Amino acid sequence: MLQALMNLLSLCWRPFGRGDGEGLSSVGIVGAANNGGGGGGRDGKDNMLWFRDFGKYAWGDFSMAVVQANQVLEDQSQIESGPFGTFVGVYDGHGGPETARYVCDNLFKHFQAISAESKGVVTAETIQNAFLRTEEGFTALVSELWGTRPQVATVGSCCLVGVICQGTLFVANLGDSRCVLGKKVGNTGEVAAIQLSTEHNANLEEVRHELKGLHPHDPQIVVLKHGVWRVKGIIQVSKSIGDAYMKHARFNREPISAKFRLPEPMTMPILSAEPTVLSHPLHPNDSFLIFASDGLWEHLSNEQAVEIVHNHPHAGSAKRLVKTALQEAARKREMRYSDLRKIDKKVRRHFHDDITVIVLFLNHDLISRGRVEEPPVSIKGARDQG
Ligand SMILES: *[C@@H]1O[C@H](CO)[C@@H](O)[C@H](O)[C@H]1NC(C)=O
Repeated sequence: MLQALMNLLSLCWRPFGRGDGEGLSSVGIVGAANNGGGGGGRDGKDNMLWFRDFGKYAWGDFSMAVVQANQVLEDQSQIESGPFGTFVGVYDGHGGPETARYVCDNLFKHFQAISAESKGVVTAETIQNAFLRTEEGFTALVSELWGTRPQVATVGSCCLVGVICQGTLFVANLGDSRCVLGKKVGNTGEVAAIQLSTEHNANLEEVRHELKGLHPHDPQIVVLKHGVWRVKGIIQVSKSIGDAYMKHARFNREPISAKFRLPEPMTMPILSAEPTVLSHPLHPNDSFLIFASDGLWEHLSNEQAVEIVHNHPHAGSAKRLVKTALQEAARKREMRYSDLRKIDKKVRRHFHDDITVIVLFLNHDLISRGRVEEPPVSIKGARDQG
């Protein structure tokens, strides 16, 4: 019985692992605004907005969009999909772009290598170990750069991953990005919003509770400053890749900036890189998945986002979500959306964050067949943005 299950699971990742690029040229794109340059050249671009309105992956259609607010884009994202499985990542960096880029270049490779070591079997542990190896790799890089670019010790990234394999969805998360499922319920064509990721932001009561439990002798483990809870009064998220200064005492010292240095010696890691992983057997009523960085959720509720996707065509879904969030950001500041869009990227960050959205539509005919003819897909969001 167990062996039969193992054999079934082992189908998952083996036929994968083709190079980048090949996927790009074979993805069907409709309605991209202009030529994104290079390779397939079908990315759309519109000022600070990058998007791929429509494409096909193993289990249906997808839509993807990224808007930049920071001087240097700190969000990274990817879709990797082969005949037997799909991997989606949203990496929201902080303190600089280095960690998110590193994660985007390495996490999926580790995931593939680890699943190959176990003959293609994918479990929650496969994903956990891929996160762990990525964290170790980045920490090694920080050590290497300590002499020349010590500030890399203060860069980190949230990390949200979805894997769909053999009818099961895994959602792994570090930080405050979010995955929301749109699920058909009742007989009236309604779609409910179901959040599948657990968040690690000190603004959540349960996160503060967990931190206090882990650090019972530190009354300053979470500090409320200007209405925002922060771990040690410094950082909002309690889990991430990177942020080496909050994990290893050897990086919590000069020459990193005083604002990152703790007043007392660090005796144990404060942030962790161990993701929360959920596994969800896909149900025929599971209609679509929205993966997005917190920049979206700051302005849209889970229900609003699911309604918008549900009530419009698949093509352009991700861009529609981004635009609705930006309109909401403009409204909060009592300005017009058209004026917000003219603001330069140096100043944009005062109005909204970098926002990444990936929508995966779930075609259950394809999922139940377990095997599709779609060519592999390998896409990284807004890779050429400054
Ligand atoms: C699935 O969707 C149908 C119609 O949309 C509904 O009648 C049914 O109750 C749903 N089933 C579940 C388990 O949610």
